[in-house]
Amino acid sequence: MNDLRSRLIIALDYPDLAPALDLAKQIGPRVGMLKVGLELFNSAGPHAIESLRRLGARIFYDSKFSDIPNTVAGAAAAAGRMGVSMLNVHALGGRAMMQAAKEAALDGARQAGFPSPLVIGVTVVTSLGDRDLREDFGLADRSQDIVLRLASLARESGLDGVVCAVEEVGPIKRVCGKNFLTVTPGIRPAWAASGDQARVATPQEAIAAGADYLVIGRPVTRADDPGDALTKILREMTDAAQ
Ligand code: C5P
Repeated sequence: MNDLRSRLIIALDYPDLAPALDLAKQIGPRVGMLKVGLELFNSAGPHAIESLRRLGARIFYDSKFSDIPNTVAGAAAAAGRMGVSMLNVHALGGRAMMQAAKEAALDGARQAGFPSPLVIGVTVVTSLGDRDLREDFGLADRSQDIVLRLASLARESGLDGVVCAVEEVGPIKRVCGKNFLTVTPGIRPAWAASGDQARVATPQEAIAAGADYLVIGRPVTRADDPGDALTKILREMTDAAQ
């Protein structure tokens, strides 16, 4: 059970820090990490990460960096110095950029006296389908082939894993090895609304597929009773693991 808890990441997608801190106080000790994404970071800045860390939470900074290697290295070093436990970069930024990000994030953490963060790649965001890739980007391969290719590139570049849909966990583990981490958003318990997520999976399906980390936002953050929603999700994860 404790191990399963450590695999759960709650996405704090809020426009300001106060509700994020409220929820963190309520559920933070019961989960593995809290995710600070673009919305909260651009509203509250590094202070959001610092405040959540002071509550004792481990932080996944969903930074989704993509730029030239030198610029991303600077940003990743700064993220490392903030003491985040996980951050991510777009695999489409390329091999040199991913290598630079990994090295800089670890250097930054080391300089500030923090443990090494996990550096994760984002392959193809789940909002893009085969049609977008073909007609807008001129890419002939199916999205899953592109995801596998980018996951391999991320592994070769020294990253620790990728963000992916639950259905991609099996193929990625086969190609990249079982120790290459998979971080899966789009998790919806049967009792929760799917919202804008297209390819959803239940917590049971994610655990059964071998996902290492489950990222869950609205089923918890928008629940009438977030603590109760979390209890139900953890029970579903435990059932799947037995
Ligand atoms: O509310 P919900 O459970 O859909 O939140 C999922 C979280 O995971 C959001 O913070 C979203 O930005 C993030 N995410 C995603 N799909 C990706 C990458 C990240 O949903 N491919």
